[in-house]
Amino acid sequence: MYNDKKVVFSGVQPSGNLTIGNYLGAIRNFSAFSEEYHCYYCVVDMHAITVRQIPAELRKRTYETLALYMACGLDPQKNTLFVQSHVPQHAELGWILDCYTMFGELSRMTQFKDKSAKNADNINAGLFTYPSLMAADILLYQTELVPVGSDQKQHLELARDIANRFNQIYGETFVVPDGYITKDGARIMSLQEPAKKMSKSDANENAVVRILDSKDDIIKKFKRAVTDSGNEIIHGEGKEGITNLLNIYTCFTGKTIEEAEKEFAGKGYGEFKLAVGEVCADSLAPVRDEFARLMADKAYLEQVMAQGAESAYRHARRTMSKVRRKIGFTELKH
Ligand code: TRP
Repeated sequence: MYNDKKVVFSGVQPSGNLTIGNYLGAIRNFSAFSEEYHCYYCVVDMHAITVRQIPAELRKRTYETLALYMACGLDPQKNTLFVQSHVPQHAELGWILDCYTMFGELSRMTQFKDKSAKNADNINAGLFTYPSLMAADILLYQTELVPVGSDQKQHLELARDIANRFNQIYGETFVVPDGYITKDGARIMSLQEPAKKMSKSDANENAVVRILDSKDDIIKKFKRAVTDSGNEIIHGEGKEGITNLLNIYTCFTGKTIEEAEKEFAGKGYGEFKLAVGEVCADSLAPVRDEFARLMADKAYLEQVMAQGAESAYRHARRTMSKVRRKIGFTELKH
């Protein structure tokens, strides 16, 4: 049941490939929101089809994403976890908001420009209007706070503009959301090019540690991490690789950088890398195990989806009836 709590909403693309950057900077911290906010986490399969998908893969990744969020600590009893296409109001409000979003605004979106360049053979209208569907996701739930990575800042700004525009024309209808820019990747850098942030779509697998990587893979990747020609385990300029590893180590252990530097004073890079790999792999082991357990229990995941969709639907329906009335749609009386 929703109540008077303020709302947090975030959407996540159906991909099981999230990195330790996503985990440490974002997902791991999401469960804390549920004390104070009503939190909606939505697997955005409708956004996913703006680029071509293999149907069986999309379906599988939708389950995986839900399971991964739960394995990372999001309790479906305390958060509303659901799949976008299960709540038809997203499409409905998406269309309406298309009519309050300007061609010029959408043309300026950097993600559209990037994705158009990458998918030159499939620059479809959905790819173009992606941000107004995202605005619909957010505005449907009268969201106050939207945790997103910095790459989504521009889309969020547009959602605010759309909300303000609509409110100006029709009077207060939508809460104007604030962004909560997660540290997602801002601090966790590529293991191969430590000046670049760790990205889940990096072509070089050695650069990226994924939440679901096996212990062996994690250790291997840390062993191969690029460092520098020195031999001191301290953070600072010219030592981007070591700084990144220290940072990852402290994120998993809760120690400070200074404590970690002291701990590894006089030790070699090899030993240090192994220690970071082990602490990372061991911290993620419970997540991996829980993920496997959940994926083996489809019936339970489906029950979570159904319960989430039901709760989201109830809230979304309220907003939609307000919107329909304001714009002058006739009501069907029965
Ligand atoms: N566009 C976001 C991304 O690529 C996903 C998303 C869809 C989203 N709808 C949202 C994020 C609503 C926050 C709020 O990551």
